Amino acid sequence: MAQIEIRDVSVDYKRPNSEETFTAVDGINLSIEKGSFVTIVGSSGCGKSTLLLALAGLIPYAKGAITVDGKTVTAPGPDRAMVFQDASLLPWRSVHGNVRFGLELRRWRRDDLDQRVTRFVHMVGLGSFADYHPHQLSGGMRQRVNIARALAVDPDVLLMDEPFGALDAQTREVMGDELLRIWERDKKTAIFVTHAIDEAIFLGDRVVVMGKNPGHIREIVEIDLPRPRTSAMLDSPAFIAYRQKLRDYIAADMASLQMVKDVA
Ligand SMILES: Nc1ncnc2c1ncn2[C@@H]1O[C@H](COP(=O)(O)OP(=O)(O)OP(=O)(O)O)[C@@H](O)[C@H]1O
Ligand SMILES: [Mg+2]
Repeated sequence: MAQIEIRDVSVDYKRPNSEETFTAVDGINLSIEKGSFVTIVGSSGCGKSTLLLALAGLIPYAKGAITVDGKTVTAPGPDRAMVFQDASLLPWRSVHGNVRFGLELRRWRRDDLDQRVTRFVHMVGLGSFADYHPHQLSGGMRQRVNIARALAVDPDVLLMDEPFGALDAQTREVMGDELLRIWERDKKTAIFVTHAIDEAIFLGDRVVVMGKNPGHIREIVEIDLPRPRTSAMLDSPAFIAYRQKLRDYIAADMASLQMVKDVA
């Protein structure tokens, strides 16, 4: 059995101002091996965040089963940490204080707590900004604090929802390299949502393509590029072929939605 097993999972939401529910994702099946890096792409609203939230145990699923290391997911747990799509730092706490908060939440009471916080603040390159407050940081720095906070609690599984979404292309590349470096050293299981196809290929062992109405897995593409990944690979024939394949899958999803509209 893989570390994470998602079996036939559906998630329903309540429609606003009504008792009606609708199905946001349906029939999701995915097995994820320990230490692997899975990226998820798909058009806006196809349920990527929903799937991650269900994995985190932050929202219930209506059908199916999710297990991590054989245990059914029913609530958040110390084995999983999430970096949210909207950066969520406490404005009144410093960089150090924000990373510390993650450990405080998990009732981390060891003597080396502050030492550990310092280590992770350094790891994301913010050693000289430990006393800064969120409003004194750039968007990219704030996201690094979020990532440090998630990593510091030493989760087995790292769930990341477009963590680099707000960053410029240059910073994004640097952050991607940094993330891979940390992941290769610690061998966490990583699940990473992004809109950027190149980023999905560059980071992932597999790219999961989701489609809409309701959200489902459309294709899974194995990325057979050696590690460590380097920026030179972005221009390799294999990379270009993956990019084309993924664009085609996403375009096909858009086209099938258009057909639904045409029929209706
Ligand atoms: N709390 C909620 N209550 C009701 N509906 C919701 C809720 N959260 C999400 N939805 C709906 O579920 C569907 C999937 O949303 P989700 O946020 O998972 O999409 P996504 O793939 O992450 O999109 P994006 O790429 O824009 O972040 C959308 O139709 C959305 O309106
Ligand atoms: Mg989302």
